[in-house]
Amino acid sequence: MLRRLHPEQPDSFAFTAANRAWAEAQITKYPEGRQASAVIPLLWRAQEQEGWLTRPAIEHVADMLGMAYIRVLEVATFYFMFQLQPVGSVAHIQVCGTTSCMICGAEDLIGVCRERIAPQPHQLSADGKFSWEEVECLGACSNAPMAQIGKDYYEDLTAERLGEIIDEMAAGRVPTPGPQNGRYAAEPLAGLTSLTEHESGRTQYNASVQRAHDIGDTIKRIDGTEVALETPWQNARAPGAEEAAEEAAAAGGSARKGRAGAPKAAADKPSGASAASGATAASKAAKKPAKKPAKKPAKPPAQKATGRRSAPGANADANANAGAAAPRKPRALKAPRKSGADDLKMIKGVGPKLEKLLNSLGFYHFDQVASWGEEEVAWVDRNLEGFKGRVSRDGWVEQARILAAGGQTEFSRRAKY
Ligand code: FES
Repeated sequence: MLRRLHPEQPDSFAFTAANRAWAEAQITKYPEGRQASAVIPLLWRAQEQEGWLTRPAIEHVADMLGMAYIRVLEVATFYFMFQLQPVGSVAHIQVCGTTSCMICGAEDLIGVCRERIAPQPHQLSADGKFSWEEVECLGACSNAPMAQIGKDYYEDLTAERLGEIIDEMAAGRVPTPGPQNGRYAAEPLAGLTSLTEHESGRTQYNASVQRAHDIGDTIKRIDGTEVALETPWQNARAPGAEEAAEEAAAAGGSARKGRAGAPKAAADKPSGASAASGATAASKAAKKPAKKPAKKPAKPPAQKATGRRSAPGANADANANAGAAAPRKPRALKAPRKSGADDLKMIKGVGPKLEKLLNSLGFYHFDQVASWGEEEVAWVDRNLEGFKGRVSRDGWVEQARILAAGGQTEFSRRAKY
């Protein structure tokens, strides 16, 4: 099936404040230089907000991620989870028509859609509330036939039950997703025959249905306020965040700990402001000097005053990550050699920002990095402001040795394409 942008498009797209905060938080999950990895979650959120993916939304996501429009369009047109035309204002029903579902009655379900919604897929119902399409296997074959509606799976369907579900949704209700024939999950219809001890202590519904039931956002448009924004990975990357939260709590501040260790201010209030404050708290914490050195400090590195604000190497917490080796500044160059600087981004873990930082420290070439011994690694690891410990964590020296010798690492091979 050809997947094209709809001929009629709105003039613009913007995330709601809360959805924007959510989107920006997703981007922080990925390493420097790999922000494009957030393209699918961001497109999905844009679709959750609008119901379908408009051209301005695709371009907006591309701009947020620094990607060419065509790259994002490629993703949007490839996956049928993205709707490129307006869908029903209440629900878009995706009926699986692949083998298991077809054998078990998918054609009857499609018949219901044709009769109750519209004769053709992607056509809106007369009242604009519903639309439907046939899709390929959705991976719930043991609960065939099934359909995805909004974010959830309605399984073990019959034509009659699908008709009832449409009626309930039209009346403003959201029927409980999951198996519609009394099964808990994908066990035999007559009940479990083994592993029966797992029946005790289980939740009312199976895990995915329970989650859908608890959140209750199955077919709604998502403005971002439905589910608390939690960013536990940001805290994981921000040494000292816990400490900062505790200090703030002791001082009567609002940075209480959330469920997943996120500052509760961010976890409880999913507004743009609170999300930003969560991120700010984490980033402040990251910059906060560690109270106690992790180990007895090795001989302090001789630091030259560079006169720059926040000069690399002038950090008070430089000893916090002290390893076994005494740090020694590697030999630096004033400028790249005549042959031009190497693309340091070919080293896994080095993004555009880090490459710039390395250049500012006088490192332009693979062979420079390859020549670092333990002491030099210790120095660089300490002086990469905001990226401390990256050199050893990502094994830059080993990678640089291969690249300096004209070889390729698995990462550099992939990064070139
Ligand atoms: S065949 Fe329908 S879910 Fe797999």
